[in-house]
This record gives sequence, structure tokens and C-alpha cells, in this order.
Amino acid sequence: MDTDACLRQPEPWFFSLAILGALYVAAFACRLFHISGLALCLCQPKDLRRSYGAWAVVTGPTSGIGRSMAVELARRGLNLVLVGRDPAALQDVSDTVSSAHGVLTKTVQFDFSLVSTPQGDEAMGRLREAVAGLEVGVLVNNAGVAKPGAVYLHEADAEAWVRMVRVNLWAMTEVTAAVLPGMVERGRGAIVNIGSGAAEALPSYPLYSVYGASKQYVAQFSRSLYVEYTGKGIDVQCQAPLYVDTKMVVSMVTWGGYVSQVVMPTPDAYAGAAARCIGHRYPFCLPNLGHRLQMCFNQFVPGRILVVLCFRETLQQRAMHLPRS
Ligand SMILES: NC(=O)c1ccc[n+]([C@@H]2O[C@H](COP(=O)([O-])OP(=O)(O)OC[C@H]3O[C@@H](n4cnc5c(N)ncnc54)[C@H](OP(=O)(O)O)[C@@H]3O)[C@@H](O)[C@H]2O)c1
Repeated sequence: MDTDACLRQPEPWFFSLAILGALYVAAFACRLFHISGLALCLCQPKDLRRSYGAWAVVTGPTSGIGRSMAVELARRGLNLVLVGRDPAALQDVSDTVSSAHGVLTKTVQFDFSLVSTPQGDEAMGRLREAVAGLEVGVLVNNAGVAKPGAVYLHEADAEAWVRMVRVNLWAMTEVTAAVLPGMVERGRGAIVNIGSGAAEALPSYPLYSVYGASKQYVAQFSRSLYVEYTGKGIDVQCQAPLYVDTKMVVSMVTWGGYVSQVVMPTPDAYAGAAARCIGHRYPFCLPNLGHRLQMCFNQFVPGRILVVLCFRETLQQRAMHLPRS
């Protein structure tokens, strides 16, 4: 055996390759750490009332994530301005939070599908009046619709897409613009916009093209506002759920039988994690640990495969809702 060959120093190209390999692994680990949001798990929840102010505005608080967020914020001592379209349901949430947590509440009836119409302008005026003089520290832009569900673009009326755009992005934009001046004046505030993990985790969202695009708007809008307002003491964040067990999803998901709460948490579990993330300097985050793990898993699956799997799932959802002949 040639002992000289065994003792010979490795070639320089070997070191270069090893360094490149180590850099790649380090970059991948950092990305995984960032995506998995492990840093978020290490953060302490903020005292929202002390950090930002005594009131929170929550849109779409009458069911699902919004209702659970309203209850969670009240549990943390925040008074609430509840903004939704159904007066009886608003009153119900208002009674629930004030009797359970002793906080003050105001309700504003606002059908977001009418935003930027004369009725919408009138409702926006009432919202401005309701928040005038209140120390609004937290705004949760949660209201959203996925109707008409999984369909090809040409299968729904244009009016349905206009409604979705109005609710999912235009109302959020106007409500944010209405609440921001007070926050800027006080030099503090937190704005949480509820986006969608699907819009981030998937390269495309076939049969939910307008919904997916509306949630991309929410993410990009939030990232830009984060940069604009961070120097003014306002923390803007897009929180992106994957599946959460709400009425929006019950009508969409086709998986039969038992679905683990790791994959699809209850709105209460989701809202607990979401409230803990408010105020941490992440312009975009997935509050739920199970969702973060799913997002990590997606990193290992080629984009084309994700798209094929997603399209298969959404085609099944479409078939479920097609009228039977
Ligand atoms: N659940 C999920 O898996 C999931 C995943 C990704 C993103 N999201 C997002 O999370 C947010 C909350 O969804 P959710 O799952 O909790 O759904 P949800 O249970 O259907 O709640 C939606 C809320 O928005 C309100 N809303 C709908 N249309 C409105 C309108 N025209 N004007 C005013 N309010 C209106 C609803 O009011 P009503 O009670 O009157 O209907 C309800 O309070 C949405 O932005 C959704 O896109 C959810």
C-alpha cells in the first residue's frame, strides 16, 4: 500500500468544496430556523395593553379565528371594538367577552362587501367615530371570505370576485388607514393582518386564484407597512394560518374522518398562539407550531409536486360542491 498517498494533504479543491458545503448547510439551517419560526417559540408574550394601549379593534369577530382572537385579547385585558356585518352576532360576542373578562366593548355594523360604496362610506364613518378618542393599540384585520370556493375563474359571477376583493383586501386597507393616524400620533400600536399560509406555502393556488391573490396582497401590504411604520413605533405583522377548524374550512376540506389538531387546530388554540406572536418583530409569521412544521415539510417537496397535489385536492372540493344532476 502506498503510505505516502495516505498521508498526502487533501487537494485545495477539496477544502473549497467542503467550505461551500458547510456554507450551504448553514444557510439551509438558518432558513429552516426562520421558516419553522423556532425563534418565535423562544419569545415571551407581550403585555399588549401596556405596550400598545387599552383598546383593540377586531374585524370579523363573529365566528372562527376572529371570535377566538376577540376572546383571547379580552382575556389579556384589552377593551374591544368589534366590527362585523351581523348585529345579533356582534352583540353575542360583545356579551360573551364583557361578562367573561369584564372588558368594555363597542360594536360597529359594517358589511365589508360594500366598502367604497355610499353605504360602505357611511359605515366607515361610524367606525371612525367609534375609534375617535380611544387609545386603540391593536388592530386585527381578520374578516375574510373564500366564497365562492373552489371554482374556475369563469364559473363565478364577476360580482362574487368583486365582493371577495372588497372584503379580503380593500376593507382591510381602508380600516388600517382609518386606525393608523391615532397610532402614529401616540407613537405605538400593533397591526395584525390575517393572510393565508396557502398563499405562501404553495407556488400557486388553483381554483382559489382570486382568494390566493388577495392573501398575497395581505402579505405584501403588511411587509411594506412594517418597513414604513416600524420607525414610528408601530409593529405590523401578517399572520398566516394554514387550515384552522372554522366554518370557512369545513366547507372546503375533503379529507374524511378524523383530522389531527396538529394539522388543523381549533380556532381557540390558534388564537392563543396568534396573540403570543403580536409585537414580535416578524412582518410575516405562522403562529401555529403544527402549521410551521407543515411549512418546513413543504420546503423538501418540489414545487411542481405541491401544485399537482393541491390541484387534485381543489378539484375534489369543486366536485363536492357541483350541483348534482
Ligand atoms: N380557517 C382557515 O383555515 C384559514 C386559513 C387561511 C386563512 N384564513 C383567514 O382567516 C380569517 C378568518 O377566517 P375563518 O376561518 O375564521 O372564517 P369564518 O369563520 O368564516 O370567519 C370569517 C369572519 O369574517 C366575517 N365576514 C365575512 N364576510 C364579511 C363581510 N362582508 N363583512 C364583514 N365581515 C365579514 C364573518 O362574518 P359572519 O359571521 O357574518 O359570516 C366572520 O366573522 C380570514 O381572513 C380567512 O381568509 C383562514
